[in-house]
Amino acid sequence: MSRGTVLVTGGAGYIGSHAALELLDAGFNAVVLDNFANSPRSAVTNLRAAANADVPLIEGDVRDAEALDAAFQAHDIDAVFHFAAAKAVAESVARPLRYYANNVEGTLRLVERMRAWQVKTLVYSSSAAVYGDADAVPLTERSPLAPASPYGRTKLAAEWMLQDLQQAEAGWRICILRYFNPIGAHGSGLLGDAPLGVPNNLLPCIGQVAAGQLPCLRIFGNDYPTADGTGVRDYVHVVDLAKGHVKALQRLASEPQLAIYNLGTGLGRSVLEVVRAFEAASARPIPREFAPRRPGDVAAIYADPSKAQAELQWRAELGLERMCEDVWRHLVESPDAPSYAPARA
Ligand code: NAD
Ligand code: UFG
Repeated sequence: MSRGTVLVTGGAGYIGSHAALELLDAGFNAVVLDNFANSPRSAVTNLRAAANADVPLIEGDVRDAEALDAAFQAHDIDAVFHFAAAKAVAESVARPLRYYANNVEGTLRLVERMRAWQVKTLVYSSSAAVYGDADAVPLTERSPLAPASPYGRTKLAAEWMLQDLQQAEAGWRICILRYFNPIGAHGSGLLGDAPLGVPNNLLPCIGQVAAGQLPCLRIFGNDYPTADGTGVRDYVHVVDLAKGHVKALQRLASEPQLAIYNLGTGLGRSVLEVVRAFEAASARPIPREFAPRRPGDVAAIYADPSKAQAELQWRAELGLERMCEDVWRHLVESPDAPSYAPARA
């Protein structure tokens, strides 16, 4: 499949909207299915503006057969990118069934309808959360799988379901992508991470502090066995990540199989390094304080991305400075920028 139409579940969300845009840039068509559980409807308007195209939208839940059938009926779908899921680690501890229902049942219902419509090419959003607290970094795709949260377990359960399906039935082409820490935003300023409610992830929190909406960033832990005592992660630009999905789809066309890839830069960065990079990008101070470690957090994880480099010819190209600049641009210039967002300093 060199060109075709891809159903993007969760396409109004942070990563899905960027992937839809990369699909369009690469000459594919994208159809978005989203229930707007964690994104504003304006995300689709902004995606259309960034793409300068009328991206079709099916509003519905991925567990709803009627919504999926409407998508397959109305569009000649060749493949699916499956982003729709719930992703807040702490919430998954408090409300595990919500996570199993959305992330595991959601994937099950989706592949059932894909099978009914004979659409058997799937790129699945997995997470470095499937590895849990790593004994040794960098993490390869063969590193032990020991998710530390219900969220991570739902992502792994869905991975296993897809692997079993691909083994049992002919014709499935499935690529599982394990993302590390996606940050950044599209260079247009139109797309970015705009979670509904109180953010959990580092960059949305830093952004709220820079924009004056939060007084102070709480840094969870300064006593980790890392160079500066703060947690270390592999931050990867969301546009690089989105391009990885297009590469995965292209690879599935020539290599019908099940494949798993880590998508990360291979570089670990501490919370303090990210804060300083954001201060430089925004020319604003980020007041911060150290707070106790966040339950469930690990000291340091980062990817060994060499398998994706070798087999997908994918490599993260955009560095931390650019990631922070793009987050700041989106905060300040997005059409949805809240009134608190100040003009660029
Ligand atoms: P997001 O919340 O911004 O996007 C998810 C989208 O899916 C939202 O628009 C939401 O409204 C929609 N959605 C949720 N449940 C749905 C359902 N049942 N039916 C239809 N739509 C539904 O999240 P994101 O950061 O873009 O994450 C996308 C995927 O990537 C998820 O599967 C997540 O587990 C995975 N992932 C994210 C990260 C990260 O740090 N952002 C890291 C690793 C993996
Ligand atoms: N952090 C703070 N203060 C904050 C928010 C985060 O110090 O206000 C720290 C965390 O303690 C951690 C780092 O910033 O050291 C990154 O935290 P995030 O919440 O941004 O990301 P996580 O690494 O905890 O988790 C993310 C996604 C998960 C995914 C995981 C995979 O949220 O969905 O990456 O590595 F599974």
